[in-house]
Amino acid sequence: MWDTLWVDANLATMREGAAPYGEIKRGAVAAKDGRIAWAGYAADLPGHAVDLAREVRRCENAWITPGLVDCHTHLVFGGNRAREFEMRSQGASYEEIARDGGGIVSTVAATRAASKEELVESAAKRLAGLTREGVTTVEIKSGYGLDLETEIKMLEAAGDLAALGEVRVKRTFLGLHALPPEFKDDRAAYVQLVADVMIPVIASEGLADAVDAFCENIGFTAEEVDYVFSAARDNGLAIKLHAEQLSNQHGAELAARYGALSADHLEHLDESGIAAMAANCTVAVLLPGAFHFLRETKLPPIEAMRAAGVRMAVASDCNPGTSPMTSPLAALNMACTLFRLTPEEALAGITREGARALGILDDVGALEVGKACDLAVWDIGAPAELSYWLGAPLLKERVFAGRVV
Ligand code: NIG
Ligand code: FE
Repeated sequence: MWDTLWVDANLATMREGAAPYGEIKRGAVAAKDGRIAWAGYAADLPGHAVDLAREVRRCENAWITPGLVDCHTHLVFGGNRAREFEMRSQGASYEEIARDGGGIVSTVAATRAASKEELVESAAKRLAGLTREGVTTVEIKSGYGLDLETEIKMLEAAGDLAALGEVRVKRTFLGLHALPPEFKDDRAAYVQLVADVMIPVIASEGLADAVDAFCENIGFTAEEVDYVFSAARDNGLAIKLHAEQLSNQHGAELAARYGALSADHLEHLDESGIAAMAANCTVAVLLPGAFHFLRETKLPPIEAMRAAGVRMAVASDCNPGTSPMTSPLAALNMACTLFRLTPEEALAGITREGARALGILDDVGALEVGKACDLAVWDIGAPAELSYWLGAPLLKERVFAGRVV
């Protein structure tokens, strides 16, 4: 006997190699103990729905997709940067603001000043924006503390969000996000602190699954990132990288050489970066929200990545500076309109490929027996509508670990 059975539904399973979207019209999905126990054509169910599950939910022809996987966010932070948004509207650039001591460093001050409870409270509101549009797994980065105490506070706040029991949370330590003001005359000392002190503590306390860095002329050099990545590897943490966002630092190649799960942003990625990512199965995480907010004009090399077989994920990059966006569906729309992904690629990007970019494809990201029963049930007539509408209330029901939440 299953716990719950969803019927009168169409499935976009997002399984590979099948029909577009892994589509199953007139399908059904069953949950048992939080996992998918059955998924397929309703006509193939091994009996009458009411005899098969304790609860039968009729979906009135809705579409069911895997719960969305937002694989790149900075959801936990203090304050916001609306003032900086105004400055940008008067002509200041992101880089100028950062060099002037604004940007990431101003969020660092607000995050250091906030209590863990305040961080949880403000992030929970942003998380509600994501879950309202079907997110069931979210990655959350630290990186607005830049000292061990505040980085731990941020990662614990992310853990507290997970403990609310409404989403899966993967945590990423982003020590090399910006140079903290107190180290402005000694970059090397900060890089060493991150690699030799922070990473071992964070790894041994199980506070993060991965390490990320901001490889950029206003961030850290490839050499500095290399030093920190080797500490990540030695401490058993996965690797991700903010790469080639504003300029080409050949960060994606470096990340790929470390077997990184993903390289993210990638507007300035070149052919050698693409080849390295393809060879190492490093996922390209596309962040059209940041592209949009920065009014960027250089597009990531989508066509070349597609041709090389690089997997592409799509994420919100929700952060106070470059992507104050809590809508995964807006990210899908922008991935299609700005980056020219197909709606199918975009949806795969925020389900299956997002899961791959987090190293959890065995567990989530597609409607497959054995995976967690994380579902989004949508009031739409075709899956392309998820990328097409902007701002429409499409979600009918969200299911986390088999429970309707
Ligand atoms: O993903 N590029 C670096 N990190 C963020 C921006 C962070 C910020 O400006 O606060 C990003 O775009
Ligand atoms: Fe980011």
